[in-house]
Amino acid sequence: MARASAFLDPRLSEYLVAHAQPADPLLAELAAETERSWGELDMPISPDEGAFLRMLVRLCGAGRAIEVGTFTGYSSLCIAQGLPPGGRLLCCDVSEEWTSVARRYWERAGLADRIELRLGPALETLAHLPMGPLFDFAFIDAEKSEYIAYYEALVPRMAAGGLIAVDNVLRHGTVFGLGEPDRRTALAREFNDHVLADPRTGSLIVPIADGLSLITTAAPEWRTPS
Ligand SMILES: C[S@@+](CC[C@H](N)C(=O)[O-])C[C@H]1O[C@@H](n2cnc3c(N)ncnc32)[C@H](O)[C@@H]1O
Repeated sequence: MARASAFLDPRLSEYLVAHAQPADPLLAELAAETERSWGELDMPISPDEGAFLRMLVRLCGAGRAIEVGTFTGYSSLCIAQGLPPGGRLLCCDVSEEWTSVARRYWERAGLADRIELRLGPALETLAHLPMGPLFDFAFIDAEKSEYIAYYEALVPRMAAGGLIAVDNVLRHGTVFGLGEPDRRTALAREFNDHVLADPRTGSLIVPIADGLSLITTAAPEWRTPS
């Protein structure tokens, strides 16, 4: 059975998974196909994280979203499902092969008209976007050494009150001393410290999956209660 988070007591994790809404059959099929072909890569987000992203998109009332790191499309489907009719999701990835699977599932879900894919290094795609409030919701899940650069490119392009969700920020717990740290531990720590020190945003880390940072570009008075 999937675990809700690597950081929770396994019994609690099992209980949370057992009491989560089941993933819809199309998402389950995508997860199974991805596991068969690229299981060893351990790339897609987990079903509970997907449900959480979908709920966040709905709660924010987001109409315009962006994803950095699409792979075979699991997270993009969850985000697109959270958008209202007429909502838009821009997906950034470098892989034609992996995103061809995503495109197939977007079609089957009837969501292809909401999603635009831009193939190429995400930093180039982001640099070509105009400045200004383009997005209400963003999800970052691509090259870990570029997280700070994705964040810096996205913050000025978020609407006030927009939300940026960033995956893998706890790096299997190694950021806080669980297990052996590695290169990605240092990158995750650097990213988390960078966000915390940024006066333009407010943030907290949720211990779901491998750690999800939730960063809001809310007006300053929202960030620090007086
Ligand atoms: C962890 S996977 C994303 C998983 C996806 N969010 C999901 O739920 O299935 C990371 C993705 O980032 C993409 N990627 C890696 N480096 C990139 C870059 N510089 N620009 C854009 N995409 C990149 C990879 O091709 C891969 O598909």
